[in-house]
Amino acid sequence: MDKIILSNISKSYSGIPAVRNLTLNIREGEFLTLLGPSGCGKTTTLRMIAGLEDADTGEIIVGEQTFFSLAKGLYVPPEKRDLGFIFQSYALWPHMTVRKNISLGLEEKKVAKDKIEATVKNALKKVQLEGLEERYPSELSGGQQQRVAVARMVAAEPQIFLMDEPLSNLDAMLRIGMRAELKHLHYELGATTVYVTHDQNEALTLSDRIVVMESGVLRQIGTPEEIYKKSADLFVARFVGSPQINIMKGRIKLENNEQFFISGPIKKKISIDKKYLDKDLTVTIRPEEIKIKSEKDMAWLECTIYSVLPAGSETIITVKKDDMDLTLKINGFAAFKVNDKVWIDFGADRMNYYDPKTEKLLF
Ligand SMILES: Nc1ncnc2c1ncn2[C@@H]1O[C@H](COP(=O)(O)OP(=O)(O)OP(=O)(O)O)[C@@H](O)[C@H]1O
Ligand SMILES: [Mg+2]
Repeated sequence: MDKIILSNISKSYSGIPAVRNLTLNIREGEFLTLLGPSGCGKTTTLRMIAGLEDADTGEIIVGEQTFFSLAKGLYVPPEKRDLGFIFQSYALWPHMTVRKNISLGLEEKKVAKDKIEATVKNALKKVQLEGLEERYPSELSGGQQQRVAVARMVAAEPQIFLMDEPLSNLDAMLRIGMRAELKHLHYELGATTVYVTHDQNEALTLSDRIVVMESGVLRQIGTPEEIYKKSADLFVARFVGSPQINIMKGRIKLENNEQFFISGPIKKKISIDKKYLDKDLTVTIRPEEIKIKSEKDMAWLECTIYSVLPAGSETIITVKKDDMDLTLKINGFAAFKVNDKVWIDFGADRMNYYDPKTEKLLF
């Protein structure tokens, strides 16, 4: 069932579009992430759902209620939307204790005192900060402050969680820890969540579905696996995955009634629709799909090692052959050195084919 429906939402600032004709259905209980580079319209979209920003066109429906409709002249103010919001900067009240930060919203809602006490306790327990009620934000680490902000949202029991880069101020270790907390919390509470990040890794880790945006336009919506393995266009293919996907330009040729994809030194037997024969194509292959070995193999492609970058659990290797270079990723450490001769191969079924002009996925 759909919980949030955005239909044909647009927003411009001084005539410059920030979000263009966005149509999006977010399911009940889903963890949906808006992913894209700086300035692509993620925060603007979230703020329109929250009612902190008016859309120029379209409709926003949440559950049974229309929050915004230009055609019907409807607008529900933010405080009546029953949404929890975590801003990019976690914005706790600095002069209030953790308890007060969490309880303030509940007091304003005239919740009974003993109920508030129990709610604060329970919310802090969920983010593993029991016993810190009397601390001030300045007496907490960045990660703890972040978790108080989460606890405050949880305590208010909104129907929807909206989070705008809530982990961006944390160091790498804390960020990974907090991802696990957020994911577990979502499992526990099951609240419909719209999450904003420009970190593709975070989006892949946390989401049920990801929306990739660029310049205010929705490029693709899908599960992390769909986005990663079947990127709808070259923008998405480049934006997700680390190291970046390999991109090759080439053509399909017919030799002795067999089809081959040919790109520089690469020649791969494939089988596709005849209409693509002799047409320019752009082909992608993910770094971890490429196999490498140091023993000569006539069926594989001979290359030279250009660089080897070990990172503990994995090693990123760049190989060259003539004008072509390919990046690949293997598990653990590698025994290869710069200028070594190596042989590489990858499955033709792991390649995706794009139209070089539109950059859209063909097959
Ligand atoms: N209040 C505003 N006035 C004018 N332009 C704005 C305003 N808010 C956003 N914009 C512009 O709208 C576009 C989208 O901004 P938005 O904040 O939604 O991007 P974002 O995807 O959240 O980026 P980031 O990852 O940097 O936070 C940008 O070009 C931005 O400069
Ligand atoms: Mg933003």
